[in-house]
Order: sequence, then C-alpha cells, then structure tokens
Amino acid sequence: MQECVFIDGVRTPNGRAHKDKGWFRKLRPDELLTEVYKALFARNPKVKPEDVDAVFCGTANISGMQNDIGRLAWLASGLPDSVPSNTITNQCPSGMSATMHAARAIMTGETDIMIAAGAEDMDKVPMGSNMNFPPRLLKYYNGADLLMGATAEKVAEQWPISRQDMDNMAVWSNKKASEAKKAGKFKNEIVPVMGLDDNGKEFLVEHDQWIRDKTDPAKMATMQSNFKPNGNVTAANASPLTQGACALLLMSRKKADQLGLSYSYKYKMGVLAGCDPTLMGIGPIPAVKKLFQKTGLTPKDIGPIELNEAFASQSLACIRTLELDNPNAPFERVNVWGGALALGHPLGQSGARIIITLLNIMKTDFPEAKYGLASLCGAFGNAGALLVEKV
Ligand SMILES: CC(C)(COP(=O)(O)OP(=O)(O)OC[C@H]1O[C@@H](n2cnc3c(N)ncnc32)[C@H](O)[C@@H]1OP(=O)(O)O)[C@@H](O)C(=O)NCCC(=O)NCCS
Repeated sequence: MQECVFIDGVRTPNGRAHKDKGWFRKLRPDELLTEVYKALFARNPKVKPEDVDAVFCGTANISGMQNDIGRLAWLASGLPDSVPSNTITNQCPSGMSATMHAARAIMTGETDIMIAAGAEDMDKVPMGSNMNFPPRLLKYYNGADLLMGATAEKVAEQWPISRQDMDNMAVWSNKKASEAKKAGKFKNEIVPVMGLDDNGKEFLVEHDQWIRDKTDPAKMATMQSNFKPNGNVTAANASPLTQGACALLLMSRKKADQLGLSYSYKYKMGVLAGCDPTLMGIGPIPAVKKLFQKTGLTPKDIGPIELNEAFASQSLACIRTLELDNPNAPFERVNVWGGALALGHPLGQSGARIIITLLNIMKTDFPEAKYGLASLCGAFGNAGALLVEKV
C-alpha cells in the first residue's frame, strides 16, 4: 500500500445562505469551488492541473445548481477535461467520504494526485430539495421523525442534554471561533473571496459570516425552538444555513517526494457507520468506536478532535458518550477553534472542511500530537470518522 499525505487544503469563508443577507448571495456553489481550485494550484505551482488523477467532490443535495457539481464546476473553472471527477453524496459526511475515496485510490496505487472537495449552498439548493422519500420507507419510519431538527430534539430528550448546556455550547463555539478569527488562525485555510455587504457593496470576504464576536445568553434563552412546540433546539444552538466550498490536495508520499513538496500528516484510516436515522446526530458514536476498534487506538492517543456541530444536542451527546473531552464546554481538544454552531455547516462541504481545520490545528496548536480525529453525523443516519497521523 502507498502512503497518502496531505499536501494542502483551502476553503472559502462560510457565508450565510440567505438571499438578501448572505455575503455570497450572488455566487453559485460552483463559482465558490472555482475559487478554491484556483487557490490550490496557485499555492502549489509544482502541481499541474492536468496531472491530477481525479477530483472527488462531496455535496449533500445533488440537484439544480449542484447536479454533478464535481464535474461541472471543474469544467466551468476552465480546468482540463482530461481530469475525471466524481460527485459523491451521503449527506453531511459527503466531503469526508470524498476524502476517504481519494485517499484510498492513492493507497491502492491506482492514483498519485487527487483532489477531494466539498461544496454546498443551502440557499440556492435548500436542504431536502427534490427529496422524494420511498413510500415503503414509511413502513419503518415516520417521515417527520427523519427531519434534522426533529432528530436533534429527540437526541436532547433521550441523552438527556439540557437547554442550558446546548446554549452554553453555542456561546463557547462562538467565543472560540471569534478568538481564532482575531488571532488569524484561519488565515492558512481561508481563500478570500469577493462578496456583497448588507448594502450591496462589494468587499473582500476574509472570514466566516456567522461567527458572533459577542453572544447574548439571556437572549438565546428566550429563543423558541424552530422544530417543536416547547422544544429546545433553536437557531442559536443549531448550525445555521450556510454556503461554502473547500478542497484538499492529497498525494502519494512517493509523488510528493519526487515533486519536492513538503507535508506533515498522512491519512491513517476512515470509516463510515450507520445509526437510527431518527437519532442521526449520534452517528459519530458508532463511527469513532469502529475507528478505535480497527486501529487499536483509544481517546488518550488522540490530540485535537474536530467533531462537527450540526446541533449542540448531538455534539454534546457524542462528546459525553465517547468521553472525548469535558462533558460540557469549555473543551480542551474538541473544536478548539469553534465549530459549526459558529462557523456554519454547508452540509456536503463540512466533512472535508473539518479535516482542513484539523490539520491546521495540529500544526499550530498541537504540534506534538501524533493523531488527529475528525467525525460528523449525517442525515438518515450516515456518519463518518477519519484519523490523520503525523509523518
Ligand atoms: C434553526 C434554523 C431553522 C433557523 O433558521 P432561520 O429561521 O432561517 O433562522 P436564522 O438562522 O436566519 O436566524 C434567525 C435569527 O436568529 C438570529 N440568531 C441566530 N443565532 C443567534 C444567537 N446566538 N444570538 C442571537 N440571535 C441569533 C439570527 O441572526 C437571525 O436574525 P437576523 O436575521 O436578524 O440576523 C436553521 O438554521 C436550521 O435549519 N439549522 C439546522 C440546519 C441543519 O439541519 N443542518 C443539517 C444538520 S445534519
């Protein structure tokens, strides 16, 4: 087996997916992908686009502007048509699955240079677009129980996770994201992109739109659930609707050495796991357990962890059950630069984005760590977990 190393990873800032208030409201998701492809090749001039073996792009909703976005965005970027591409979906883990497939293609020796990308625009291609549940599915599940907010409410009830703990996590996530933004920690991963401010004036967007530099816990406590009468999952403790794209450059270690490229981390292992779709947020529990079982590692062996915050309830349920960190924020190694509650969660992009952020956190804040872990849940009970290892 060849070793697969991470050469680089970039992302657009995450914009609010809103037709009037989103900084990227005039940009399509394929246009955001063009920005990250351009940046990857500009930052790595020894890698020629025509030498890329394939591009795998994760997107949750493959319809409308995102229909086969992997191929169409590449061609629309003016990049060589000789490079094949695969658009991959398994809902939120899509970007992570794209990375796993790219890494495995390198490890088997079938390829040497791969791009794993992720993109989603939750305004122009809303969640559940063109979804048409198989009627036979309804023999096994109540359709309403499969909706994301409903699953988050159910996790909060069953674990149980209090409203105050969920809101506290959102405060913490915004605080850490705001501190990381101000300290310039996202500079290595964010590609600035031109956007529009509230007044329609063009400006260079250099950071994520949703991060709140100040939160107001008293106001958050008064917010109503969007999903259930007297429920506890609100716009503050749920990941917000977001737009963004990202891309990773992966290579066989042999090819990276031939090209004289530097690298610090390699792909160790990635797994997918399934769980009850009405409790989809707990997916990282079986996924991370499977990864530990297969590698023989334990939480003690891991440095930083990126655990996507689709909802505070599911994130806390996973952290507590897997004993990954303190049972409640503040966290010492989970999402130390904030998570999706603050940064946003453009569905199919996030699985690849958390790997990019993990690699940057390892390099700058956890240089001694041998392993880093990224994991996320996904609609209908698909989850992913992926380990990176220092070389
Ligand atoms: C929860 C949800 C329905 C809310 O959507 P929405 O009604 O469009 O609400 P918004 O996110 O626009 O927020 C509503 C308002 O609350 C505000 N708000 C959000 N968080 C806040 C906070 N912490 N403090 C104060 N105000 C807050 C927003 O800023 C917004 O006000 P504004 O328009 O004046 O800026 C939506 O974000 C959602 O569905 N999230 C989950 C997405 C999901 O399922 N992802 C997949 C997971 S697997």
